[in-house]
Amino acid sequence: MNRNRVCLFIFSAVMSLLLVYCGLYIYLFSTPSFKILNNILLSRIFPFVRQPRNITAVGLLEKINLVNLVNCKKLFDGDYIEMNKTYKLLETFKPKPITDTEYISMTKSCDSFLEKRGYIMRSLSSVEETFPLAFSMLMYKDVYQAERLLRAIYRPQNIYCIHVDRKAARDVKDAMTSIASCFDNVFIASQLYDVEWGTISVLDAELSCMRDLLDKHKSWKYFINLTGQEFPLRTNYELVKILLVYDGANDIMGGPTSKWQNRWAGAGTPPHGIRPMKGGTHILANRDFVDFLVNNRIAQDVYNWTKYTIIPDEIFFNTMNHNSQLGVRGQYNGSIPPNEEMYFSRIKIWTYSLGADCHGEIDRGICIFGIGDLPLLKTRKEFIFNKFHWDFQSFTLDCIEELYFNTTRDEYLGIKDFNTSVYETALFVKYKIQ
Ligand SMILES: *[C@@H]1O[C@H](CO)[C@@H](O)[C@H](O)[C@H]1NC(C)=O
Ligand SMILES: *[C@@H]1O[C@H](CO)[C@@H](O)[C@H](O)[C@H]1NC(C)=O
Ligand SMILES: *[C@@H]1O[C@H](CO)[C@@H](O)[C@H](O)[C@H]1NC(C)=O
Ligand SMILES: *[C@@H]1O[C@H](CO)[C@@H](O)[C@H](O)[C@H]1NC(C)=O
Ligand SMILES: *[C@@H]1O[C@H](CO)[C@@H](O)[C@H](O)[C@H]1NC(C)=O
Ligand SMILES: *[C@@H]1O[C@H](CO)[C@@H](O)[C@H](O)[C@H]1NC(C)=O
Ligand SMILES: *[C@@H]1O[C@H](CO)[C@@H](O)[C@H](O)[C@H]1NC(C)=O
Repeated sequence: MNRNRVCLFIFSAVMSLLLVYCGLYIYLFSTPSFKILNNILLSRIFPFVRQPRNITAVGLLEKINLVNLVNCKKLFDGDYIEMNKTYKLLETFKPKPITDTEYISMTKSCDSFLEKRGYIMRSLSSVEETFPLAFSMLMYKDVYQAERLLRAIYRPQNIYCIHVDRKAARDVKDAMTSIASCFDNVFIASQLYDVEWGTISVLDAELSCMRDLLDKHKSWKYFINLTGQEFPLRTNYELVKILLVYDGANDIMGGPTSKWQNRWAGAGTPPHGIRPMKGGTHILANRDFVDFLVNNRIAQDVYNWTKYTIIPDEIFFNTMNHNSQLGVRGQYNGSIPPNEEMYFSRIKIWTYSLGADCHGEIDRGICIFGIGDLPLLKTRKEFIFNKFHWDFQSFTLDCIEELYFNTTRDEYLGIKDFNTSVYETALFVKYKIQ
């Protein structure tokens, strides 16, 4: 008798609690301000209520490929025990890439490809949706790594041009083509070049992508170029927030001119009274500026002149950005001479010895990042890291990827925001042509 009563009491107590929960939830959900806070708060106040989510739409954020053999968080924190454990593991560990032929067969069914690889098929926030980006990616090998890069930066509102080198293996071209065919907004450049480092062909490949990108998408705001061996650390949300701060400014390096005279000494006088400038090859440029580079007569003449310079791809964009008399939006106005340290587009460590600034391996003077570099990479403010080899200390790229998707997820859930103050004070942002 007594026991039944207790049971009945507990039962009704639970039921009314549930009812109160449901009622409150429905009420709160219907008020607009709570809808906004929904993601952040409701899951904490009402731990029983799972948010309605579309797993296929949000892709990897729901099931991030956590690296399970090592603890990335500890590696980023520079934990020596974890690092030593990882080095030991790397002596025998062989990562298993997706091969070119596997990509070709996986992409026969695009739906299952997108789902299996966890592509993010939603713009994630309205600020991102209204600020589409255009990317170019130059590549000639390692489809696996290029696809992992594409998977990270892919959002449906953006557009992507992939330039596969003309001399790339047949399988590479076929695999990239079949991957691109699964998206409306990913395509192979309409004109492919045989890209030789240090020659005008690098510029030709970039310009070919720029032309296509201008053509195929009418509203992207900024252009970013990548190679298949880079990886971003800024999420799409962070890129957009930074580029809103840039407000048209181009992040295109220029250095002290006197240092680089020999680069153009043999090219004769530049046309139209242009002053040459040399800089790094990685660029972020607004749409009007890209349009100017591709379509303006002066730009074409300068392009012709750069053919006779040494390493033209370190001169053309930089020269065009640092001749403010042309009056193109986003150029640097030059009131203060530019220096090579004030840009954010890339972290690329030039080094000739391992040690303080490179813990990976060195390839033609450039640091290929290793797990020992993770603690530093985590703190850097640049956009893109150059460079990684997926098969060199493979957990390095795995962990960078894990951090990238974690951050994307946390920003999407509203758990984390991004502080743009470092970017606001950049000289090229303050001293830009409006
Ligand atoms: C989930 O998202 C996909 C891709 O955007 C869409 O096709 C599908 O209809 C959505 N499903 C639901 C249940 O909303
Ligand atoms: C990513 O998030 C998961 C929790 O979902 C956490 O276990 C992991 O340590 C995080 N990784 C990094 C690199 O912060
Ligand atoms: C990690 O390895 C280095 C050398 O390989 C050694 O000097 C150091 O004591 C080890 N640290 C730990 C915490 O195991
Ligand atoms: C650039 O040079 C090529 C030949 O090298 C010429 O055909 C073309 O007209 C030149 N373009 C301009 C804008 O001068
Ligand atoms: C970005 O574009 C510039 C200009 O064409 C080029 O020199 C550079 O190699 C490109 N960078 C990448 C990472 O492709
Ligand atoms: C962003 O960081 C700067 C400098 O660290 C700080 O002064 C500012 O209050 C921060 N802004 C926000 C919104 O947290
Ligand atoms: C460049 O921009 C700064 C900041 O707006 C301004 O003070 C300066 O006068 C400009 N210089 C030129 C040459 O327009």
